[in-house]
Amino acid sequence: MYQSASNSYNNQPILKGLITSEKEKIHAQTLANSLRKKFRHFSRRFRREGVDCFRLYDWDSPDIRVVVDWCAGRLVVAEYERKQTGPRYLPEMAKAAAEALGVSGDKVYIKRRHTKIPDSPRYKKLNNRQERFKVRERDLWFWVNLSDFLDTGLFSDHRDTRVIISGLAKGKDFLNLFAYTGTFTCAAAAGGARTTTVDRSQTYIKWAKDNMLLNQLLNPRHVFIQSDVNKYLSRAYAQGKRFSLAFVDPPSFFKNEREGVSFDVNRDHPELIRAVLKLMLPGSDLFFSTNHQRFEPKLHTIAAREIIKLTPKTIPEDYRNRNVHNCWQIKV
Ligand SMILES: C[S@@+](CC[C@H](N)C(=O)[O-])C[C@H]1O[C@@H](n2cnc3c(N)ncnc32)[C@H](O)[C@@H]1O
Repeated sequence: MYQSASNSYNNQPILKGLITSEKEKIHAQTLANSLRKKFRHFSRRFRREGVDCFRLYDWDSPDIRVVVDWCAGRLVVAEYERKQTGPRYLPEMAKAAAEALGVSGDKVYIKRRHTKIPDSPRYKKLNNRQERFKVRERDLWFWVNLSDFLDTGLFSDHRDTRVIISGLAKGKDFLNLFAYTGTFTCAAAAGGARTTTVDRSQTYIKWAKDNMLLNQLLNPRHVFIQSDVNKYLSRAYAQGKRFSLAFVDPPSFFKNEREGVSFDVNRDHPELIRAVLKLMLPGSDLFFSTNHQRFEPKLHTIAAREIIKLTPKTIPEDYRNRNVHNCWQIKV
């Protein structure tokens, strides 16, 4: 039985205009062939590098809107939802993927993603199985959870950016905003920085601490703050806190209904970056990243010593989508 992390198709009537079962078979076959080939290409190399999680299929063919991630012997199979694929389609693709790579059904996780719904429930809980396990990314270990959330706890497209941050970290004061599970905090701490990790979610702050503990890095040099980023920035400025390295990776949109605040990365990134820059010491580096697929940068409005576009250099080879994130290094 495959593990489903979304039930949005349950009880849906069979729609007209669905992909036919013949086409479905062709898609399954094409996906299986591609996965076998990619696995041969990547698995040995990533094993050598100590990378447990990597992408095997990245919507490679426009017809097969599926993403398949390998995660330490498990598979996450996600589909960008569309009207033409009915309730059977994704389980069929998952079955083909599992058979192609010899993975048993209970180690395959199905996820349905939306492309167009702003503020979709990306960070909400889907299940509560609390099955987490450890994965390795070079010198670091992270907890991932494939069943309970749409995202797993680890964004592997940033594994090379973590190496950059770790390499710059020695002796620095690192600020990780919108920190999620603290993978960048672990990278900076491992590289020798003192760190401050900010996220509004208690769940992710706890997860970030667990990741630090897993890497034997949890100690009083590292501070974890559950807060809205805007509020933290005003407070930290007033308190005279200053940093020499920062990673800022906001969601594309968020809303705080209670306070009537909304954030749209396209509209608001210059203001956010300027607020972070007020905390940065001369000679420091701020890394700004977004995974908004139609991001329109307005970085020319930012006053900085130098602004370097890092992408696509930071995007690993297993990601066919060279726009999976966009990342800049802003030198102060
Ligand atoms: C795109 S993820 C960041 C990914 C992370 N940098 C990584 O690579 O692992 C967004 C995170 O922002 C947090 N978040 C969303 N709105 C926030 C806010 N207003 N203040 C603080 N954190 C927020 C969410 O809880 C989530 O953990």
